[in-house]
Amino acid sequence: ARPVEPGRYELTQRAARVEIIPGTTTEVWGFDGAFPGPTLELRRGSRTTVRVRNELPVPTSTHLHGGVTPADSDGYPTDLVVAEGRTFRPSGGMHGHHDPSVWTFHSGAKDYVYPVEQRAATLWYHDHRMDFTAPQVWRGLAGFAIVRDDEDDALPLPKGERDIPLFICDRAFEEDGSFRYPSLDPTLLVRPGVEDAYMEGVQGDVILVNGAPWPVLEVGTARYRLRLLNGSNARRYRLELTGGARFVQVGSDQGLLAAPVEHSSLTIVPGERFDVVVDFSGYPPGTEITMVNALGESPNTRAVMRFRVTSRVRDDSRVPPRLAELPPADRAAAVTVRTFDFRRTRHDSGDMWTINGEPYEPGRPIAEPRLGTAEVWRFTSDFHHPVHLHLAHFQVLGRGTRGPEATDAGLKDTVDVRPYEIVDVLVRFDGYRGRYMFHCHNLEHEDMAMMADFRIV
Ligand code: C2O
Ligand code: CU
Ligand code: CU
Repeated sequence: ARPVEPGRYELTQRAARVEIIPGTTTEVWGFDGAFPGPTLELRRGSRTTVRVRNELPVPTSTHLHGGVTPADSDGYPTDLVVAEGRTFRPSGGMHGHHDPSVWTFHSGAKDYVYPVEQRAATLWYHDHRMDFTAPQVWRGLAGFAIVRDDEDDALPLPKGERDIPLFICDRAFEEDGSFRYPSLDPTLLVRPGVEDAYMEGVQGDVILVNGAPWPVLEVGTARYRLRLLNGSNARRYRLELTGGARFVQVGSDQGLLAAPVEHSSLTIVPGERFDVVVDFSGYPPGTEITMVNALGESPNTRAVMRFRVTSRVRDDSRVPPRLAELPPADRAAAVTVRTFDFRRTRHDSGDMWTINGEPYEPGRPIAEPRLGTAEVWRFTSDFHHPVHLHLAHFQVLGRGTRGPEATDAGLKDTVDVRPYEIVDVLVRFDGYRGRYMFHCHNLEHEDMAMMADFRIV
């Protein structure tokens, strides 16, 4: 996307018909009618305003995932934009009635203000409407936002046309090409009879990369920087390359690692990003290298994308052995330890996903960390829960009695918490005071109340 002027973007959320499955069209709800939405370019030190205009029949809230954003622009689930001329009455969703004072409405559009005082990183933006994030993201309300800075620019990593964001997600389709989801009726969450599929999180049977199934990227005999995002509602991937190609990870959710880490396979969970360099220089033109999902249960959910080497080119990029200076992950820096248990629990209205046994209640903080301090947050779980914090970044200290794994490196905002695992992270509460959230990034779990507020004081 192009800014309308330096430091200012304008995006319109609207319905559009696009061709995803060849020969059919799909109605998407997209930023500027696109799925994924336009990629925003943010520059560290350049405050940027994004005006989001809503022309959809439903309210929306736009969150910059990974952004260090003041609370009033963070995309709180009850801070909503409603299309001009429409009214919306808070219904209480599926979890009973929420306190009316937590709801705010903007008519037509809202200006989200991003100070962009954070380091270069691959961020993304997506809808965050109370109780309806999952179906609204499924319909297309998500896109990349890339923060760049001088530190990252100064490295000899691949740049320009060889720096490519890849939005990986799964979808299912009806015969007529429309998206299939347990319920896309904006007033009804779950169609009777499909509760179980919904409980685990909704998965599609086709994988899309930047909105296309099984696409081909033509590459030269050079290194490429691929910014991988798992933008799926609930699917986890184990990405692998054929032909002996490897991922050299240079960044995680929150930018550059201290040093590169090589992986032959990468497990990526909803909300997570891996910034990797892949070297195609050793392959003669005509070679095809495929990226597959080793966790796929069918040919369609194994097939991610293809890289076709087409030409010999000159490449002076490289991956230096040192990338950035990161703060030490020192447990002793923490002023306290808090434990959060992510679990399915039984409530009067049926089973739901909760944190410490409590379903989400907007406006009720369950932790009040102090600005400028660090804490250890311990996550325990009964299932796969990709845990995400707004605003605050963290480093993984360990998993149970073991240390962090190779894919845990760097500064993160989303961490894979696996069944019956205990994951400790060191969180730094830097940025702003105010009301923020953390939640499971399985979006159906999030909508089923596996979310909580924390307030930075
Ligand atoms: Cu990407 Cu609150 O989430
Ligand atoms: Cu977020
Ligand atoms: Cu979950």
